[in-house]
Amino acid sequence: MKIAVYPGSFDPITLGHLNIIKRASRIFDKVYVCVAVNSSKKPCFTLAERADFVRRVTGKYGNVEVDTCEGLLVDFARAKNAGFIIKGLRAVSDFEMEFQIALLNKKLAPEIETVFLTADEKYTYLSSTIAREMATYNADISKVVPREITGDVLARLRRDI
Ligand code: PNS
Repeated sequence: MKIAVYPGSFDPITLGHLNIIKRASRIFDKVYVCVAVNSSKKPCFTLAERADFVRRVTGKYGNVEVDTCEGLLVDFARAKNAGFIIKGLRAVSDFEMEFQIALLNKKLAPEIETVFLTADEKYTYLSSTIAREMATYNADISKVVPREITGDVLARLRRDI
């Protein structure tokens, strides 16, 4: 059984993330979406809120499960018996950091392979940062985050100017 972990901050989950989850769910038997702590970021949504958003939008994928992780990703992956870590790449600029993290994770857990999926061309410009910025200005965020969560994202971030 091929088990994969797709980690990220998901602050909040975007249509780009969802596209990777959907494609990964076709490649792997089981995909654990790991809502994790990125120590270099200060998230807008709590870990539990971010995980709830991801659960709400991935319910339709029978082989996708969502969990949170406050420790090392490789420990999470081992606990789930996962042999793969999935990362989405939008542009060359993502590569340098992701390459470094993949090598680090390989040092920590040589049995786990990092697999890169290229972002769908439609979503290469997308990021959670952009989604949050748009929501702040009450812009139409339905093109960047799944419709199930647009109301909650706007309710938290919209500034009435
Ligand atoms: O969506 P992000 O913020 O780019 O995701 C980064 C994340 C959360 C996947 C990365 O920071 C991570 O793996 N954090 C868990 C802690 C860990 O294992 N750190 C070592 C690898 S950087």
